[in-house]
Amino acid sequence: DTLTKYVDVLPRPGVLQPKGRLQGRLYYEVRMTQFQQLAHRDLPPTTLWGYAGSWPGPTIEARPNEKILVTWLNELPSEHLLPVDTSIHGAEPPSPAVRTVVHLHGGDTPGHSDGYPEAWFTKNFAQRGPHWTRRLYAYPNRQEPTTLWYHDHTIGITRLNVYAGLAGFYIIRDRELESRLGLPRGRHEIPLLIQDRSFYEDGGLYYPLTPEDEPGITAPTPSISPEFFADTAVVNGKVWPYLEVEPRKYRFRVLNGCNARTLNLMLVRADADNEPDLGAAGPALTQVGSDGGLLPSPVDLTQGVDPADPTARRLLLMPAERADFVIDFSDYAGQSFILHNNAFTPFQGLDVQTDPANDSQPLPEIMLFRVRARTQTDSPDLPATLADVPRTPESAALITRTFTLEEIQDQFGRSLTLLDGTRWFDVVVDPQQPLEPGQVRAIEVRSGSTEIWRMVNLTDDVHPIHIHQGQFQILDRRPFDVDHYDATGEILYTGPAVPPAPEEIGWKDTFQSPPGHVTRVIDQFEGPSGLFVWHCHILEHEDHEMMLPFQVVPATV
Ligand code: C2O
Ligand code: CU
Repeated sequence: DTLTKYVDVLPRPGVLQPKGRLQGRLYYEVRMTQFQQLAHRDLPPTTLWGYAGSWPGPTIEARPNEKILVTWLNELPSEHLLPVDTSIHGAEPPSPAVRTVVHLHGGDTPGHSDGYPEAWFTKNFAQRGPHWTRRLYAYPNRQEPTTLWYHDHTIGITRLNVYAGLAGFYIIRDRELESRLGLPRGRHEIPLLIQDRSFYEDGGLYYPLTPEDEPGITAPTPSISPEFFADTAVVNGKVWPYLEVEPRKYRFRVLNGCNARTLNLMLVRADADNEPDLGAAGPALTQVGSDGGLLPSPVDLTQGVDPADPTARRLLLMPAERADFVIDFSDYAGQSFILHNNAFTPFQGLDVQTDPANDSQPLPEIMLFRVRARTQTDSPDLPATLADVPRTPESAALITRTFTLEEIQDQFGRSLTLLDGTRWFDVVVDPQQPLEPGQVRAIEVRSGSTEIWRMVNLTDDVHPIHIHQGQFQILDRRPFDVDHYDATGEILYTGPAVPPAPEEIGWKDTFQSPPGHVTRVIDQFEGPSGLFVWHCHILEHEDHEMMLPFQVVPATV
């Protein structure tokens, strides 16, 4: 039976308090533990893994250009909460089942503190991965104020560790700027971590032991699934919550924290039974920021969008993408609205969402907003200009790299999606180590240089591609003939390049790479050097080879 919707209040994650000062910096300690939490009024407590005993973890608040120090401590049990597939990269025996390493997603972080997937550690640092170097992580926060998030990034089990609860917000905040722009603040500014989860009746988290719809493969048990789409929406750790709002403006910092599910969101009116009325759009979502900072100006995302049209672009977020947006409830006192999603699973693009019967695992309702019946409180208009976001000129890039996204099968016949046809352990990251047959060296990017990366997507799905070490910009997406490419290896364009959507022209760290398109991004690798990764942020893809390392080397040698 499905759980009753909108009976629990939306929780707000707490803010992490520093332990003190170290080396003149604010110093934090965060323990990863197993604990229980109530996900829904009618569910027994759910056993979870999380940071500082909560799901989501406490929000870390930092200021631009103020470095902070964090020690992440693994105090988890020795057995994993979820089924571990030991046939995939980095999870093979004798690798310990419970390993952790933390990544600050979107942070411009030095390699030693970036949470490299093989820099994992166990309880009390008793065992450490081959790339582990230090306990004390440093986050310089040398970047635009924005909404980042921290989450687990361990090789081979990221999907399980994050699903178990290991994720939290990290906000780089400039209070002076926020008040100058008149953005809603305090209790009118709310982070929303949207995730999908499935639960057993005893409250436990369900994650498939073997692929649910790939019959006939002879995979090991447990086995990774190609993607997992769960059946219940959870926001800030509560199932289908509701939030009572005043008739005024609110700022929401939304993160798609699902393992694999894409979200295409807008507000629609709730009818008397709290069901979405697809004939009645609610107040618009006005996006003010993207992954890496504020947009040049506000973008009205859902103005005039027909809620019944599955091909219409709404607030479209793939896993790991964030959007900072404002909703003005002023004219809607006494009404209720559902945050409604209509993205298909797996997500192949809005243009193919024409047959609603195609959506095998829909998750249309996310949460409910109840606007209080009260006289309108005043909230200032949004300014026309929010931030200066200079476009990086293409001419600044001296190097263009081209990568394919392609789907093959692994030794068990399971779907395997690769970046540039390369597997994780085929890449040698130590420049001194001689290459064996079949091996390649990690890409070397010179610190301070600008590069264009092109994704040639030969698969049927859209993949959210995340490049570590700071933020970049999307140049364009251009359709090409996939069959011709498969036959000849040559890119034959079938249409003009499409510029990014207005809400995509700001700073990004994760971008949507649609099938049959060449997607180009331009990245100024301004940050510190070290060893980093780039990967698909569908966590089942990331854990199953869709991730590669790259090396950022100092500007002058
Ligand atoms: Cu959000 Cu490489 O991760
Ligand atoms: Cu992918």
